[in-house]
Amino acid sequence: MAALRKIASVASLVVLLMAGFCSPVCVEVPSETKAVQGYHMRLQCISCMKREEVSADTFVEWYYKPEGGKDSLIYEFNGVPLETISPFQGRIQWNGSKDLQDISLNILNVTKNDSGIFTCNVTRKLNFEVYHTTIRSSKSIHLIVTEEAEDDFTSVVSEIMMYILLVFLTLWLLIEMIYCYRKISKTEETTQESATDYLAIPSENKEKCTVPVEE
Ligand SMILES: *[C@@H]1O[C@H](CO)[C@@H](O)[C@H](O)[C@H]1NC(C)=O
Ligand SMILES: *[C@@H]1O[C@H](CO)[C@@H](O)[C@H](O)[C@H]1NC(C)=O
Ligand SMILES: *[C@@H]1O[C@H](CO)[C@@H](O)[C@H](O)[C@H]1NC(C)=O
Ligand SMILES: *[C@@H]1O[C@H](CO)[C@@H](O)[C@H](O)[C@H]1NC(C)=O
Repeated sequence: MAALRKIASVASLVVLLMAGFCSPVCVEVPSETKAVQGYHMRLQCISCMKREEVSADTFVEWYYKPEGGKDSLIYEFNGVPLETISPFQGRIQWNGSKDLQDISLNILNVTKNDSGIFTCNVTRKLNFEVYHTTIRSSKSIHLIVTEEAEDDFTSVVSEIMMYILLVFLTLWLLIEMIYCYRKISKTEETTQESATDYLAIPSENKEKCTVPVEE
């Protein structure tokens, strides 16, 4: 169910944030695949590096393949960005990170003709003193461009359900906390009371404290 997926993603986000406080984490989150005509689309491509790859030389290529067509190079980054002659020329914005773990692009003013498969290919050359090695990774995004944003009824419902659940969980947590607090303070009270029993308080004093209300 969509709502469950959303809750799972919220939960994983929290975990990620918590992990993020300890150390910078790179997570290969897949890209969105739906775009709306006339808006911009972030083609997300993340290729995490291992520790030994940090000093690598990175070379990035982005390809586009229309439905039933062939791959053609639309963008490359080899220290400097380079846009090739393509239907995307002038509409591509680099949206990656400096360390080239995130090599995403923004496609501006998406048209229905932009539907198709985008592929990001990353090549990392590791130059060790004794040997050289090359690591390649490749990811594909099947982009679907629609005329208008889908006002998906089920997604609206699942969103509402998610918020209801969040409120419910928060309330439940609060009630649980109050209950526990009460329970603890009650136990403390009784232990205090039983403690006073052991103290040599004159009995009349003690009775003053516990005068029944009815009298
Ligand atoms: C990436 O694009 C978003 C908008 O889609 C923008 O807010 C952000 O600043 C961009 N980041 C980089 C590094 O270009
Ligand atoms: C987006 O593209 C359409 C059709 O190609 C064009 O008419 C429109 O002016 C463009 N909008 C922007 C903001 O570039
Ligand atoms: C989309 O492609 C078709 C044929 O390939 C072309 O006739 C049309 O002008 C294109 N539309 C846009 C908005 O680029
Ligand atoms: C991208 O990389 C993959 C895996 O290395 C390779 O199979 C594919 O041919 C490459 N794509 C292009 C268009 O070079």
